[in-house]
Amino acid sequence: MARSRSRRGEGFGGAWTKEKLDILQRYLNAYTTALKKQPFQLWYIDAFAGTGDVQLRASEEGTEDFLAGSARRALEVRDRPFDRLVFVEKNQSRCDQLEQLGAEYPQRGVQVENAEANSYLKGLRPVHNVRGVLFLDPFATEVAMTTLAHVA
Ligand SMILES: C[S@@+](CC[C@H](N)C(=O)[O-])C[C@H]1O[C@@H](n2cnc3c(N)ncnc32)[C@H](O)[C@@H]1O
Repeated sequence: MARSRSRRGEGFGGAWTKEKLDILQRYLNAYTTALKKQPFQLWYIDAFAGTGDVQLRASEEGTEDFLAGSARRALEVRDRPFDRLVFVEKNQSRCDQLEQLGAEYPQRGVQVENAEANSYLKGLRPVHNVRGVLFLDPFATEVAMTTLAHVA
């Protein structure tokens, strides 16, 4: 899934980044397929969404290699797509890129939230007839224990 792009992605990824994202992708596909005959709406919340692409490295030719990030991979679920995808990101320019990403998938219900993850998650309330995946991928220790207690 690596490719060259002219616009900037999110940071520099290594082999572990690809492995993490591949595992996420497999999980999202298995999860949505397992629930596809159930009468639930399926939501995906990515609380540290980045831009949709992860920058791997700059090549000697000057092109930049990108890996599809978590938001893009969630959008790419095809067997039973998510009904709603919420991308939370505190950086405004990354949110702008997430809006562009959402525009590439007009058939999906994309909502970009320029917000601090803990505040956003603590504002979530139980919703009837919805099942979903909450993906937390901070750089470090940005997720508060009180947030985990709220969403658990
Ligand atoms: C490790 S990157 C996420 C990469 C993303 N999962 C992907 O695959 O492309 C972490 C992202 O979280 C954002 N971030 C950091 N702290 C945050 C916070 N407290 N609330 C919301 N976003 C935050 C950063 O701006 C960054 O884009």
